[in-house]
Amino acid sequence: MKHHDLDFELEADFNDLSAEEFLYNRSGPWPQPAAHHPLGTVPSVLHLPMDEMLSWWLKIGSRYVIDLITYPFIALMKAWRYGGLKEMSDEDFVNYFLHTAYSKYLVRELTIKNIQLFSDFLQPEKEYLMADFSAMELLKPNENIYCEKSIALFEIQNKTIKIVAINLRDYIVTPQDGDLWALGKFIVMQGASVHLNVAEHPKLHFPMDAINAVTKTALPKKHILFQLLYPHLELTLSLNYQVLNNPTSLLENKWWMIYSPFPATPESLRNLMVIGYCGLKENPSYQKYKYPLEGPRKIHADFGVFHEQYYPAFYDFAEKVLEKIPQNDPLVSRWANYIHHMMPSFPDGTEIWKENNLTKAVAVLIWDLTLGHAADHRTYSEIPIYHNPMRLRVSSPITKDSKFSLDKSKAVSVLDQTKWLMANRLFYETWNVTNLTDVKYEFADQSLQKCSLDFQYSLKRIEESLRTKNYMPVNQIPSSIQY
Ligand SMILES: [Fe+2]
Repeated sequence: MKHHDLDFELEADFNDLSAEEFLYNRSGPWPQPAAHHPLGTVPSVLHLPMDEMLSWWLKIGSRYVIDLITYPFIALMKAWRYGGLKEMSDEDFVNYFLHTAYSKYLVRELTIKNIQLFSDFLQPEKEYLMADFSAMELLKPNENIYCEKSIALFEIQNKTIKIVAINLRDYIVTPQDGDLWALGKFIVMQGASVHLNVAEHPKLHFPMDAINAVTKTALPKKHILFQLLYPHLELTLSLNYQVLNNPTSLLENKWWMIYSPFPATPESLRNLMVIGYCGLKENPSYQKYKYPLEGPRKIHADFGVFHEQYYPAFYDFAEKVLEKIPQNDPLVSRWANYIHHMMPSFPDGTEIWKENNLTKAVAVLIWDLTLGHAADHRTYSEIPIYHNPMRLRVSSPITKDSKFSLDKSKAVSVLDQTKWLMANRLFYETWNVTNLTDVKYEFADQSLQKCSLDFQYSLKRIEESLRTKNYMPVNQIPSSIQY
């Protein structure tokens, strides 16, 4: 009986709101099972309002068209001048794992299997990290291209790390192995690059679509939660739709796609995306996706410390704004229930009111859509492509061969690298449409306007006292996922 009463009250609440009080007259976008792998990936938004599509075309799609016409020749010339891959020192290699989005791959838990694998290299008094790209072997490579699994072992040494060994096939290579060591490092870089594109970075993009659509459709425009989130939801639904569902998406990896740098069939790339969400059994490097209610994931490197320094500003901002929403506000409970229904790791309408869960859920969302996402792009797009192959045209020898010789000019083709440069130009480099520091929230409550100014001010203060490298200058953080 109680449930009926509650429903009746909710109905009454909704009757007070006319359709016009909602952004899309209550008929806006909504999450549903994804078109590809509906059970293995997060829900998707497949029907978009026309004006969101148009806005995407105007502000992002048109840039792709211009670059597709003007940039291929420049990319070709650059790729030709690089002439393949280039010498990558152990220090360069380690720096990519400390100072870019690749640091997310560093895992502390060593499984029994990996302890046995690297038993000759592990010393009990030392600490280690691993980067595991085992799932590369599940890809179906294109002709004359190789996708090999690899596991890299790093030793922690006074706040920095040293690369110790790499597992290829069923043997291990070390810095003493000459060209085979050089190839090992490139195989790891290829694993990191492909994983970032299809298994890791998608976790910042696509799970947030459900929240994006539900917020636009189910919260009235006057609601504080709507006003807080709306500026961070611009362009992203259409962008994500284009990546996941457009037949010309780079994920389709057709031969004529001058902007698709991938090494494998589209089906196998999408399978790797599923592994990114679902994880691999007994492998701490491949964890099942959960909504990150506890904030940005712990990263064992400078790049992680950078995010840890900024996160409290996002949390405080969310907390101050959300304080104004009455406890058990039925519109917020409904909002959470709708999202939870599609994404069970998001708190439901009851859980959302417990232990600051609303603040946590909203703070991490805003962080994810702005700084969290953009810092991945900035650091990844700045890795020189002659160190960061997406396709490799040489394979490691079937048994360990110390006489192996690597021709770096033949390890990738000029066309491979041209495609990589095109993808970098179109999709990875940071092209902001709107900046976070320029956001004007439509808060009716003037005290909340002050909160938003305080937020922007605190971001700048954090930047001035950063203890790490500045991976993303505050005035270049976009207000939403725009690339
Ligand atoms: Fe992205």
